Amino acid sequence: MSKEVQKLNLEELATFCKKKGFVFQAAEIYGGFAGFFDFGPLGVELKNNLKQLYWREFVHKRDDIVGQDGSIITNPKVWEASGHVATFGDMLLTTKDTKTKLRADHFIEDELNIAGDALGPKEIEDLIVKNNLKYNGEDFELPIQFFSGMLQTQIGADVTKQSKAYLRPETAQSIFPNFKSVAETSRQTLPFGITQIGKAYRNEISPRDFVFRCREFEQIEMEYFFNPEVETELFTKELEELKVQVLLAETQDNGKSDMVEKTLGQLVEENRINQIHAYWLGTFFNFFNKSVGLSWENLRIREHTKTELSHYSQATMDIDYKYSMGYKEMMGLAYRGNYDLSKHQEYSKTKMEVFDEATKSKVIPHVIEPSFGVERFMMAVIYESYTDDKERGNVVLSVKPSIAPYKVAVLPLVKKDPIGPKAKEIYDELIDEDIQAFYDESGSVGKRYARQDEIGTPYCITIDYETIEEGENKGTVTIRDRDSTNQVRVKVEEVSQIIRNLIREKIKFEDLQ
Ligand code: GLY
Repeated sequence: MSKEVQKLNLEELATFCKKKGFVFQAAEIYGGFAGFFDFGPLGVELKNNLKQLYWREFVHKRDDIVGQDGSIITNPKVWEASGHVATFGDMLLTTKDTKTKLRADHFIEDELNIAGDALGPKEIEDLIVKNNLKYNGEDFELPIQFFSGMLQTQIGADVTKQSKAYLRPETAQSIFPNFKSVAETSRQTLPFGITQIGKAYRNEISPRDFVFRCREFEQIEMEYFFNPEVETELFTKELEELKVQVLLAETQDNGKSDMVEKTLGQLVEENRINQIHAYWLGTFFNFFNKSVGLSWENLRIREHTKTELSHYSQATMDIDYKYSMGYKEMMGLAYRGNYDLSKHQEYSKTKMEVFDEATKSKVIPHVIEPSFGVERFMMAVIYESYTDDKERGNVVLSVKPSIAPYKVAVLPLVKKDPIGPKAKEIYDELIDEDIQAFYDESGSVGKRYARQDEIGTPYCITIDYETIEEGENKGTVTIRDRDSTNQVRVKVEEVSQIIRNLIREKIKFEDLQ
């Protein structure tokens, strides 16, 4: 079903997230700190659920992907080898008089309404001259400067001997140096993946768009290692026929943004991506669409143009989500070749090759890297599921039960004995069963339902006099469904199993009625 998501602008989203306890500015009582955010009680639950969903689907349910957790600060040689010290950063514009500094790609994007990411320094300079672009009436100093995107710190107590280190700007470089150790200890053979979830830091010149572009953020990254000489068995017919909307590189080169519909098979035939790249593109498209519930229309693929490719990439396809600011990158899938492993082999003098049974030869594997930010993922989920339901008179956050911060709320009709204690008993059992539950005994039941709708709780259990009294409803409670507002009575002893089956989508609420 097509769903219009532009119901919230960024400001409204930030207000909603703050009001409900999803996201606050870091150290708000001191005026915040640009590019840094804190996640409140609901934000941390939602983030954890999104990360767990990913981990379950891609690590626990598969035998070809393993996890790791690397340190945020590592030997700075890693960043020299990876090319980040020399090339990771942004183009910076400085105004002639007040020396105001602006990120060049964002300035061009705002002024000319074209994708700034795709432009090199020379192209931006030409556009500035051709369009006589100024900032607050000021001209710019040209040529454009390079500004390192890496945050630095000093290690060691003795200031005379302190050494410079970097906060990682991508978790990927925690994975590559460990490649051999992980492969050997987990007994993986090609093709296989290593994934991790962790914080990354970027010295963004202009953090913006709420949690979309921060200086500290959390990444979910995977390096899937394969031998390019071996044909993949992963790219199924079903994925080959998966239709997506795509913004092609040549369309952007022509200054346009029209999308076309293509199958993944066509993207491979046109030599835009290889089969294993297409496999991961389709697998993540399906993950966002089917497992997370982001609608097909709100997802698109964007092919990177040649000039915007990162220094390590041979081909990159983004999966963009249609936020209120328009389609923006939620995930990048880069074909990094064997750039990183080769560089680490060269700089560390440690062999990064492995024996591939399929070709009976040693190979430095290539990688496809799916990479996305948890905050952008969370923003997409909130955008997609937020509806201001005028008829109901409250907001409804219709997130999938598997990712909802709370799965169920337990609401005693009244606090007093015997209703309150019975409700508490049911709540304790749900918690015992590892079901994230919320206990609320204050206000009218209608108000309590509304509060749960707004934070995305899919089910509410109400304990009333009928639960306790004699009669046909004795020993039963009401389960109320967030999306339909329908209610059904079920036996107390069956309630936790029913809730578990609903969350896992093993049964539908309609089946209970
Ligand atoms: N590893 C890719 C990125 O951080 O953008």
